[in-house]
Amino acid sequence: MQSVLSGMRPTGKLHLGHLEGVLKSYVEMQDKYDCYFMVADWHALTTDYEKPGQIPENTLEMFKDWLSAGLKPDKAVMFVQSAVKEHAELFLLLSLITPVPWLERNPTYKEQRQELSTKDLSTFGFLGYPVLQAGDILLYKASKVPIGEDQRPHLELTREIARRFNNYYGQYFPEPQEILTQYPKLPGIDGRKMSKSYNNAIYMSDDEKTVNTKTGQMFTDPLKVRKNDPGHPENCVVCAFHKIYNVSECAAVEAECRSGARGCVDCKKALAVKINERLTPIREKRAEIDKSPDLIKDMIADGNKRAGITAGQTMIDVRKLMNLG
Ligand code: TRP
Ligand code: SF4
Repeated sequence: MQSVLSGMRPTGKLHLGHLEGVLKSYVEMQDKYDCYFMVADWHALTTDYEKPGQIPENTLEMFKDWLSAGLKPDKAVMFVQSAVKEHAELFLLLSLITPVPWLERNPTYKEQRQELSTKDLSTFGFLGYPVLQAGDILLYKASKVPIGEDQRPHLELTREIARRFNNYYGQYFPEPQEILTQYPKLPGIDGRKMSKSYNNAIYMSDDEKTVNTKTGQMFTDPLKVRKNDPGHPENCVVCAFHKIYNVSECAAVEAECRSGARGCVDCKKALAVKINERLTPIREKRAEIDKSPDLIKDMIADGNKRAGITAGQTMIDVRKLMNLG
């Protein structure tokens, strides 16, 4: 069976954009491939090295988000990057063959250095971020890697590094293909992209009341002032959510909005019910997980062990190919 590897940095709880994009595709893939899903805590440290305090809590939260969304430990190996030291060893070996200009011209690297200008990212580790990522992928000889658009340059680099390795030491690593996980058209409650940093996200772990409040705050068509004014659903966040969480009634919502038959207050209430319906099984699963904290720790330890076995086998081959002991 083909292998899949993907990772997420533990930078905070996951929101509905993650749920309907990346996580949904992880859940589908666990039935079709040999899946490895990793919490990339070392990658988080490349930008947050000054205050690593949040990383352990965020790592645990991330596992809870994954499990509650439907990932299953008997179907996919879920693990923590820093628990599998082979990631560091392969990172080192790959760094020996990676020309620095390949890293310096990486567009994601350039953008991030500008965007995160309050942090000092002129570090060796941050420049090497994609090499660490190439190691993550190649350790499991993944042929498919689900990623978002911003990660494409990193995957291209992974292929280049794999090719260079195979040239020097013999054909060994498959060149991984990306699977682009489509972010659904899911804005934040203010209409911008849903993001923790914009403070406009609905989280997977939000309770019913919070969802009701946030849905009530969603931006609607500014031209629809009174209940019976005709509206423009294309300019409304609530409508964008109906398209995802209320598919069967979405056409009616749009028609009634346009004709003025529908008021925004009712429209939001109806939506909140649908979002809560989607989140109910997820909340139940999370409550179950929270009841037995030891179980999730055991599950993580088991995932780390299973990832370590695959990674260990790869490293035996890699050391041999590079004439190391
Ligand atoms: N860099 C990825 C991100 O920020 C996370 C990541 C780390 C990753 N290692 C990976 C993704 C390996 C795919 C494959 O989203
Ligand atoms: Fe948006 Fe619904 Fe109000 Fe129309 S009626 S503007 S779709 S909230």
